[in-house]
Parts: sequence; C-alpha cells; structure tokens
Amino acid sequence: MKPENINEIVGSDRNHLWHHLVQHKPWQSTDPMVIVEGKGLRVTDHNGREYLDAVSGGVWTVNVGYGREEIADAVRDQIAKMCYFANSAGNIPGAQFAEKLIDKMPGLSRVYYANSGSEANEKGFKLVRQLAALKNDGKKHKIIYRDRDYHGTTITTLSAGGQAQRKDQYGPFTPGFVEIPHCLAYRDPRGGDPDYGVQAAKDLEKVILAEDPDTVGSVCLEPITAGGGVIVPPEGYWETVQEICTKYGVLIHIDEVVCGMGRTGKWFGYQHYGVKPDMVTMAKGVASGYAAISVLATTEDLFNEFLAEPSDKLHYFRDISTFGGCAGGPAAALANMNIIERENLLDNVNQMGDYLMDGLNGLMDKHEMIGEVRGKGLFVGAELVKDRKSREPVDESVAAAVVGDCLKQGVMIGRTNRSLPRYNNTLCLSPALICTRDDIDEIVTAIDVALGNVAQ
Ligand SMILES: Cc1ncc(COP(=O)(O)O)c(C=O)c1O
Repeated sequence: MKPENINEIVGSDRNHLWHHLVQHKPWQSTDPMVIVEGKGLRVTDHNGREYLDAVSGGVWTVNVGYGREEIADAVRDQIAKMCYFANSAGNIPGAQFAEKLIDKMPGLSRVYYANSGSEANEKGFKLVRQLAALKNDGKKHKIIYRDRDYHGTTITTLSAGGQAQRKDQYGPFTPGFVEIPHCLAYRDPRGGDPDYGVQAAKDLEKVILAEDPDTVGSVCLEPITAGGGVIVPPEGYWETVQEICTKYGVLIHIDEVVCGMGRTGKWFGYQHYGVKPDMVTMAKGVASGYAAISVLATTEDLFNEFLAEPSDKLHYFRDISTFGGCAGGPAAALANMNIIERENLLDNVNQMGDYLMDGLNGLMDKHEMIGEVRGKGLFVGAELVKDRKSREPVDESVAAAVVGDCLKQGVMIGRTNRSLPRYNNTLCLSPALICTRDDIDEIVTAIDVALGNVAQ
C-alpha cells in the first residue's frame, strides 16, 4: 500500500538523505527508491510496486525474510522492559544469545557484542595488537588479509581490505596489514593447476616467511569471499591455511559477516572446512537486520590471555562499543536463531541452494556470457565474460545492465560493485533462507530474460 504522504517523503529523501554507495547525480531528475514494506522475500517501493528481493536486503542480511512479527515482538518486549545498559554489565537476552550461539560453535566460548561487521572486525584487530603488546613487546602485530576480501568500511578495516577500488582515495591506511593473493581458481594466474587450493594457501606461508613469522599475529579471511566475487575456496585451501597458521603461531580470524547464520547451509561458513578459528566475527544475518548487532566470538584460550591481577592496570581488553549494550540486538538475534532452527532453514538452504545452482548452470547452455557459476547454499555468483575461452570479463556496465533489467522485471539481484578493478563482473544472489522453488524459478527466469536483452 502506498502511504498518502509518499510524495513528501520521497522529496525529503531526495533533498536531505545522503545514501550509501550511490552517485546522487541521476536523482536530480529521477526519484530515489524508498522501500516501504516487506513480507517474506517481497518488498514494496514508494510507488506500490512489489519486487522479489534475491539479495536479502541488498547486502545478504535479511536471512529469515521480512515481516517476522515474532522478532519485532521480542525486540519490543525487551526494549520496553530494559532497552540499554553499557555492556560492562550484562542483560538477559545478551547472556541467553551468547549461550545459544556458542552451542553452535564448538571450540569457541566467548561472545563480545558490537553493532556492525566493521566494528566487530576492528575488535579482532585490536585483540591481536594488544596481545602482541602483552606478550612480546608488540612484535607479533601484523595482520594478513587476502586480495578480493572485504572486512569493513572504516579506515582500519579498509586497511585489511583486498578490494582496491573500495580503498581508492581513502588512504593513507593503518600500517601493519599485509596482503596475500586471492584463491579464485577461475582466475588462477598459473592456469588450471589441479593442486591450486594447496598452492594458493601456500602463498600465505610465503608471505609469513617474507614478513618474519615472529611479526605476524593473525590472518583475517572470509570463509567464502562475498563482495569480492563469491569465491568458494578450492579443495585443500583451508586445511593448508590451518596447518600453516598452527606451524607459525598465527591466529585465525574468520569473518563470517556474510556467511554466518546459515547463509551457506551450515551455521557458519568455516564449518564446511573443518578449520579451527581463534576468532569469528559476524553481523548481517545475526538478527536478519531487525536490530543492529554484531559479534566477535573467541576461544577460551584467547580470552584467558587477557586475564590478570587487577593491580596490572592495562592487562585487560580496554574496549567498548556503546551500542553493543543495546538489549534489543540479542533479543532479535535469539528470535532469529529460533526461527532458523524451528523451520529447519539450514535444510532448505541446502536444497534451494542446489536448485539455484542447477538453474543458473542450466542457463550456461543458452548464454555464452556466463563464464562460471559458483557458490554454496543460498550464496551464489555468476561471473560474466565477453568470451568463455579467453575469460575476458565483461565491463561493469554490462553487469549493471543485467541487474537493471532484472529490476525492471521486478526481481532485485546484486553484483560486485565498484570494488575490483576490471572484475566488477559477477552477479550475486542471496535470497532469504526461506525461499521456495517458485521464488528461484522467478529469479532464474528474470536473469535468463535479462541476459538475452543485454546481449542483443
Ligand atoms: C565479509 C564482510 N565483512 C565485513 C563487512 C562490514 O560490515 P558492516 O557494513 O556491518 O560494517 C561486510 C559488509 O558488507 C562484509 O561483507
């Protein structure tokens, strides 16, 4: 339904809002989109037009779908009773969610609350820096990140960012961050090496040795790279990363901001690979966007490093996040997790993820432009190329045109967006974990039509 004063609202938006990630110039002559309502996988805009949202709120967030009164009620009840107190004290849903979460993460035992993915990652970096200061005069302070990964928008998380275009014009960056190559087999510069997973992971060892293992504190990696092009690590990759980190005493920090909370068919992406993280960060799907909450989860060993006699005045994690004390966040997160369990959504993700991959792979017979389809669960990408043989990427304007054509058809899909020079050519799909075969048919049909239109 279209609210009566919608023209006024669109005017206020156009005149006063500074939107995320967009060039505003075109909105001098057209209206910005205002999302008014959401139910299940569908959202309605200011013109009353309905869309199927195949990207869970644009950025892999609304995992359990829109309009969940159960979550809204949990948040309302909690904030009416006790909205906020700094997290130097506890609150009831904060303790309950921590217990429930840790139950799904064997090997980890501590939960630290913040309110965005960037912030949770910053906490992880601060732990490494402080641990280095506590244990060896700051020497083991370097943090390794990977080409094409993204860990956030602040200057320091951008310093750990492997997406050159995202970083462009925002330097100088925080020192002590070192890059390793990506692990996308389709773009393996060595060309089709059957042992690529192991070899790509060995790039990590080369960098640790070049930097001096005594100076490297952690490696921060996405389990499956998201905005860098949906990169599922090749066989042998994670096992080798684990071996290398154990060998050189390097902490493993896994950024589950996108993959966490069921997106890939397990609770967490790293759980597909048997890896044992020291730290895990998560945000988007934790409360499906019903409240702002992020989490840094750690092992008890790491937590114990910060235990000391109170007379040692600096030997504890001297960090705070004001809104990490909002009790509505864990209340929403608890209700969100209950829904995922009760509705067996992990099973649905696995079934619907396969169905989506089959549908997109099926389009490859018809559309030469699809170079590769890759993904896990309901986290899927299709890389577009000019020519399958040369793998020359299409220009980002082509990927944008496909996304635009789908939108015209009423289906919202995503793409790698001004992140990677030359490689903003991957379509991204991440429908809510509740999606059905009919929803997926609609998504695949829209892409089929769009590719046909754009190729003409
Ligand atoms: C893998 C990953 N980590 C961290 C972030 C940053 O999260 P936030 O935007 O909540 O700060 C993002 C955001 O897209 C992300 O994709």
